[in-house]
Amino acid sequence: MIKGVHFLAIVALLSLAFSLVSTFDPSPLQDICVAIDDHKSGLQIPKNTENQVGSNVTTMNVDQILGLNTIGISLVRINYAPYGQNAVHTHPRATEILVVVEGTLLVGFVTSNPKNRLFTKIRKKGDVFVFPIDLIHVQFNAGETNVVAFAGSSSQNAGAITIVNAIFGSNPPINANVLAKAFQLDMNFIEALQKKF
Ligand SMILES: *[C@@H]1O[C@H](CO)[C@@H](O)[C@H](O)[C@H]1NC(C)=O
Repeated sequence: MIKGVHFLAIVALLSLAFSLVSTFDPSPLQDICVAIDDHKSGLQIPKNTENQVGSNVTTMNVDQILGLNTIGISLVRINYAPYGQNAVHTHPRATEILVVVEGTLLVGFVTSNPKNRLFTKIRKKGDVFVFPIDLIHVQFNAGETNVVAFAGSSSQNAGAITIVNAIFGSNPPINANVLAKAFQLDMNFIEALQKKF
């Protein structure tokens, strides 16, 4: 009997401890706000991919759909030209789940320090891939046809940091000596990169 009581007490303590360590931030949801304008998403219109990277992202977040405020989700459509890419970037506020609806896409993300492990897959029409929050990731169209993908985000405004733009295109620029040492590259090379971005 005593043993049974001890056992129950231990189970109760463990479940309390577990509930403490697995506590999330409270949901930001306050209320719903149904947007009244009949918003035309325009997601049926492919975007122009004639740029340096060969892709174009159409965002459907709280800026376009006001009713997403405090709901914690959003959506993008990405068009990729042949050999186009959505250059290495991160989303500081969201995990992303992507589904390929047209073509074939090479996708991948890199885990944090110290392992920096790359997880990569080839995803065909109908396949999905998940990019965990904050990790650097990339999508590349390695084929000769256009690719279309949609991606849902666990944020009303996922945010995006494009790595090359942040590092070589910051305003004002990061000191070229600092970048030369970090990247183990010649200063001239760094300055050329800074001019590009
Ligand atoms: C994306 O497409 C739109 C419309 O097709 C175009 O106005 C815009 O400049 C494109 N963005 C990039 C980065 O190419």
